[in-house]
Amino acid sequence: MVRVGVIGGGFVGSAFVQLLGDPARHEALVDGATATLELVGVAVRDLAKPHDGIDPSLLTTDVEQLLSSDLDVLVELAGGVEPARTYVESALKRGVSVVTANKALMAESGTQLAQLAHEHGADLFYEAAVGGAIPILRALRISLAGERMNRVMGIVNGTTNFILTKMTEEGSDYAGALAEAQALGFAEADPSADVEGYDAAAKVQILSTLAFGTRLSGDEIAREGITGVRDVDVEFARRSGYVIKLLGVAERVGDHGVSRRVHPALVPLSHPLASVNGATNAVFVEGVKSGPLMWLGQGAGGEPTATAVLGDVLDAARNRVSARHDVPFTGDLSLHYVPASELSSLFYLSVDVIDRPGVLAEVAGVFGRHHVSIQSMEQTDVADQARLSFLTHRALSADVSATLDELEGLECVASVGACLRVIDGGAA
Ligand SMILES: NC(=O)c1ccc[n+]([C@@H]2O[C@H](COP(=O)([O-])OP(=O)(O)OC[C@H]3O[C@@H](n4cnc5c(N)ncnc54)[C@H](OP(=O)(O)O)[C@@H]3O)[C@@H](O)[C@H]2O)c1
Repeated sequence: MVRVGVIGGGFVGSAFVQLLGDPARHEALVDGATATLELVGVAVRDLAKPHDGIDPSLLTTDVEQLLSSDLDVLVELAGGVEPARTYVESALKRGVSVVTANKALMAESGTQLAQLAHEHGADLFYEAAVGGAIPILRALRISLAGERMNRVMGIVNGTTNFILTKMTEEGSDYAGALAEAQALGFAEADPSADVEGYDAAAKVQILSTLAFGTRLSGDEIAREGITGVRDVDVEFARRSGYVIKLLGVAERVGDHGVSRRVHPALVPLSHPLASVNGATNAVFVEGVKSGPLMWLGQGAGGEPTATAVLGDVLDAARNRVSARHDVPFTGDLSLHYVPASELSSLFYLSVDVIDRPGVLAEVAGVFGRHHVSIQSMEQTDVADQARLSFLTHRALSADVSATLDELEGLECVASVGACLRVIDGGAA
């Protein structure tokens, strides 16, 4: 018997409990784990709430009692950093293996918790924390352990991809697409964790740790969400052969640097990530020898996510039966964080100017003074102003920022609209 306790009976928790009790899976579960999984209890906050598919006699609000009931595996599906971290630490210190889907917790304390697990002979698995059903973490940790990774780039937030897809396919503006996402249950009433890029940033943190073995702090990530993406930017991208996506990127810079960032970017239609639409997630990985690889699938939802949780539980159960545990992954600890301002990229910039002779030369002069070379420019009329949309050649981010600062101070510039990176052959 492998004794399993669960904290959380919400979307993922109830789907997990139902998968575990599914008679059609019974033999696979026993064979896979070489021991029967016994569900000991499910802790929730409020017993009066509906907890679909969970036997009421298993429900409890007493987490401490659940933790001290001789568990082999604790499945943490409550979410948030506290009290989840306290519960996970408490389980690991007792030598109980932990499976979690908690990206916030793993992004903040994953390295320390993995060390704690190792010290107490337990496993800590968290496949469901990034990309729901997509098995990307195991792929990076195990299948690609012998590869030197150059870049991990993903669409790792379904809400923002749903909104951007609506804007692209139906010409909706940001507010309209967000309202539709909320009405359909793809976005929360308070959408800031998704649309401001916090959720994607936590996932980039986890991905970069596994791809590069870095132990960078949670602050070392550049984050920009999609609230500033306008319908005119989406339309310009479409006309120019691109689609706008919110990307999470972790990439090697030189021999000892790593960049980590979340930002919207123009992705060429020929790139595999360009056709990832709706709430779907995808992670695109580039290794030195493996070349490009991509995983795509359902990045959220109770049942898809629960399959990844169950896979982790079976892995932990197998280890338990053979009295072993996985050693935490450590990669190149000499890598340091490179701020986004020090990187170069192609850029799309949009500026609204007063429509009068000489303005174009004035604006172009600012680009030149800051060493930003223009690849193409499109002018469209907007009331009594002109909108200038530029695609630049590769330029240093800090130089582009200086260009925008100077443009904003020009009397002929009514407003600076957009400044987005453009993907060029896989690099952002
Ligand atoms: N939903 C997804 O599609 C998805 C995808 C990938 C990863 N995840 C991650 O999976 C985890 C769970 O997400 P979810 O969507 O299932 O959340 P949810 O529907 O809000 O469910 C959370 C559950 O945890 C219980 N809970 C919360 N705090 C607790 C505490 N202090 N003590 C005991 N029980 C507590 C709640 O109890 P009550 O029912 O009594 O309120 C509820 O049953 C999160 O870390 C999330 O980031 C979710």
